Amino acid sequence: MLSKTMQDALNAQVLIEGQSSQVYLAMASWAEIQPGIDNITSFFYRHSDEEREHMLKLIHFINERGGFAVIPSFEQPQLTFPSISHAFKTLLEHEIMVSESINNLVDIALKEKDYATHNFLQWYVAEQIEEEALARNINDKLELIGNEKSGLYLLDRDILNVSVGGPTPPQ
Ligand code: FEO
Repeated sequence: MLSKTMQDALNAQVLIEGQSSQVYLAMASWAEIQPGIDNITSFFYRHSDEEREHMLKLIHFINERGGFAVIPSFEQPQLTFPSISHAFKTLLEHEIMVSESINNLVDIALKEKDYATHNFLQWYVAEQIEEEALARNINDKLELIGNEKSGLYLLDRDILNVSVGGPTPPQ
């Protein structure tokens, strides 16, 4: 059974994961109307789907442990970006914020002596390492490319092979 503190903290993470999905969905929609970046667009759509999966995994866990997962309302995310680089920079900053939030949850689980939740959260810890590394890698590439269109063309081609999400979330 989840403690009230643990349940509230997990529900706060439901909001963060769902909001992340909205943030990347907005990036996807913006990218879709930019010319020539179809694969970058798909990347954002896939990333948005992954975040929804992260949210659902939390919802199921809370409910299965005798709690109640509260479905939150979301804020409207940033809708447009000055450039592709700005969008990916925002994505990296967002993931860093999510990692901090997951680490905080792990802390709470330990304080509550809730070892089942602590164990459950290890998947998110691993996931955040991968997501941050991926976001940093794309940002590094964009820094090299600068404003060159040919570089953006190559990034759009290469991003096809990038898998978002790392470990597959259990159903
Ligand atoms: Fe689910 Fe990208 O954090």
